[in-house]
Amino acid sequence: MESQSYFNNRRRIRANAHIRELASSVYLNHKEFIQPLFVDESINARTPISSLNEVNSDTIDSLLLQIASDIKFGVTKFLLFPVPLKKSNNNFDFSFVLKAYESIRANFGDSIWVAADVCLCAYTSHGHCGVLNKNKSAVLNDASVKIIADYALQLAQAGADCIAPSDMMDGRIHAIRSILNENGFDNKAIMSYSAKFSSQFYGPFRDACKSTPGKDCLITDRKTYQSSAFNGNDAILSTIRDIEEGADIVMVKPALAYLDIIQKIKQQTAFPLAAYHVSGEYQSIELLAQQQLVERSNAHVEVWTAIKRAGADIIISYAARHAQNWIKEINY
Ligand code: PBG
Repeated sequence: MESQSYFNNRRRIRANAHIRELASSVYLNHKEFIQPLFVDESINARTPISSLNEVNSDTIDSLLLQIASDIKFGVTKFLLFPVPLKKSNNNFDFSFVLKAYESIRANFGDSIWVAADVCLCAYTSHGHCGVLNKNKSAVLNDASVKIIADYALQLAQAGADCIAPSDMMDGRIHAIRSILNENGFDNKAIMSYSAKFSSQFYGPFRDACKSTPGKDCLITDRKTYQSSAFNGNDAILSTIRDIEEGADIVMVKPALAYLDIIQKIKQQTAFPLAAYHVSGEYQSIELLAQQQLVERSNAHVEVWTAIKRAGADIIISYAARHAQNWIKEINY
């Protein structure tokens, strides 16, 4: 068929893998991935998380083995989630995860970088990310921030490289930056879950951390502290605010359902931007793959590429430990 202009031929650039590879405008690199890990005080041996395919909860000992294995697959950055044995309403006992950091440092030194997820939802009996008022009808902001900042300092002392608060209280970045600096930890970075939406896609994670909110209280969702899907501007303002308070890395979470927010934040700031492909987003692909409705690795790579195209610099994925191999095998 006679073309109207040279420009009308779009198939030349799609003709074979070589030219498709050359013409690509985005490339993935496993070095920009972070691998989440779960360390659970209530188990005696590594336990598969039934809601998250191929992801395990670890004891401190099996965590060290998991990290050693991940290093072999090119993973050097981790995000660690603790699951404590005991849940309570206040006076939380953080000693288990502190012990985990000490073991990690003793075993791996500076060869890996570990960000500490900082939140109270795995510690509270009601599953909320902060402490509640007397009649259990509201999450208290400043009282929660104080506990979270003290916890962050203990994590820094135990050897966490980066503090990653995911609680979404106001003023926590300022409080954490201040307490770290006052105690000589001005070199510890803060990765803020700054644009964290109240989402359906955290379901499998809450299973793993036993942190579904609503037990023993009057509030059954996180809508009074996490951003609304219907208000993207709030998430952007929350991110700018966290940068002003001292965040070094900001984050959009979930990733796939909020690509527009990733793009807008990237346009507004040069700060490093992480995107968290969360548990429900990960597990959607895993379930489709189990039914042979998608090819697993290509589906993950396709989504990672979308996240990168939107503007993320860093990708947090439960499949990060596969990134090196899957990226090597990309069929352009
Ligand atoms: C809570 C927290 C959540 C995740 C990380 N930290 C979920 C929540 O708000 O309940 C979700 C991660 C995922 O779904 O993969 N502080």
